[in-house]
Amino acid sequence: MNKSKNLLGLYIHWPYCESKCPYCDFNSHVNESIDIDLWIKSYTNQIYQMKEDIIEYNLNYDGLSSIFFGGGTPSLMPLEIIESILNISYKLFNFNRDIEISLEANPSSYEIEKFVDLKKLGINRLSVGVQSLNSKNLHFLGRLHNVNDVYNALDHATKTFDNVSVDLMYAFHGQDINLWIDELESFLKRYDLKHISLYQLTIEKGTKFFTDYKKGLIQLIDNDLAADFYTKTNMILSKYHFNRYEISNYSKINFECKHNLNYWNSDNWIGIGPGAYGRLWTSNTKLQRIEYQNYKNPKSWVNQNVNYCSFEKIKMLNTYDTDVDTLSMGLRLEKGFRISRLIDRKLIKSKQFKTLQDKKIIFEKDGFIVLSKNYLIKLNSIINFLMND
Ligand SMILES: C[S@@+](CC[C@H](N)C(=O)[O-])C[C@H]1O[C@@H](n2cnc3c(N)ncnc32)[C@H](O)[C@@H]1O
Ligand code: SF4
Repeated sequence: MNKSKNLLGLYIHWPYCESKCPYCDFNSHVNESIDIDLWIKSYTNQIYQMKEDIIEYNLNYDGLSSIFFGGGTPSLMPLEIIESILNISYKLFNFNRDIEISLEANPSSYEIEKFVDLKKLGINRLSVGVQSLNSKNLHFLGRLHNVNDVYNALDHATKTFDNVSVDLMYAFHGQDINLWIDELESFLKRYDLKHISLYQLTIEKGTKFFTDYKKGLIQLIDNDLAADFYTKTNMILSKYHFNRYEISNYSKINFECKHNLNYWNSDNWIGIGPGAYGRLWTSNTKLQRIEYQNYKNPKSWVNQNVNYCSFEKIKMLNTYDTDVDTLSMGLRLEKGFRISRLIDRKLIKSKQFKTLQDKKIIFEKDGFIVLSKNYLIKLNSIINFLMND
């Protein structure tokens, strides 16, 4: 680590949703009644503890560079909780002048007044979980909203916020590629979006889709067709001036998600709330990273934190784990990662590196290691190849 100031982000997890989507393996649970005061106390205790730790570890930072309310569905969060978290974090950490404060919202939990109130509280980036632009596919995904809800939510979101991002999922078995391209294009024409996260549907263990898949009730898309979806989608996005700066993330110039860049660049962030994790460099010279892991179950998390802060696990990451993280996160980015961020460069085997360099799969540029755009899709196998003789 160099002597310049470090970036510091804050992630807040809100674990509740109106219903559980059949594909989702995030730490999300169907809404239940909560005691707002207890939740405020628990979040607050965690923020105070993190401030103490950051002083102890001598982390050199200016103020928070980003805050991200993620979930679950944080647009369902009581406003008092959001307000308390923002007030306390400002008091303890201060905010950088250009801080990005994002919140994830679902079109089905949308209320115009809430968007305006969220903006008044300081949220300056809204990430809307659109997921699909087609009511049939929204139904397949088990979402509670339809396409009219999407347009309604986006009309208000783009009027209220300058910086609006959407999450979309595509490339399902049976999805019509031409229809998808038309839907995407008319959507991009209609709204001045700054950022898009775009995911191909994956079937995760433990979800309803996984059970359905095992029973043969749903199928995976054919690889060639998935590649076709990917190529055509990229063409449309670049036509509308979206740059793919990370495997699944696209933005207009200067609207990359600062908070997520923190993860991909292996910087520092605090993670509070059920299941959230945080990582910090422990000092400017020791080159060690510490990881904080929260209790996953919402009730256990509140009970464990309401009187004083308690993490489920805190561990020092060893050099190998730290470097694997730097490599695998950094190569996801279009610009790659700074070689000097590796503590032990021997993680990358030089013979393997040269093989990939000769094939123009990987290259070095201005002190960064970069994966060629066309190979981002093969990231995992390339990382394995680089690390093993
Ligand atoms: C934490 S979730 C978003 C929160 C918000 N509640 C929502 O549903 O819009 C982050 C994003 O991951 C994506 N996602 C979740 N599960 C996925 C899966 N199995 N395959 C592909 N994308 C998935 C969705 O696009 C989702 O918006
Ligand atoms: S609304 Fe979002 S977080 Fe909640 S279950 Fe659905 S995908 Fe998961």
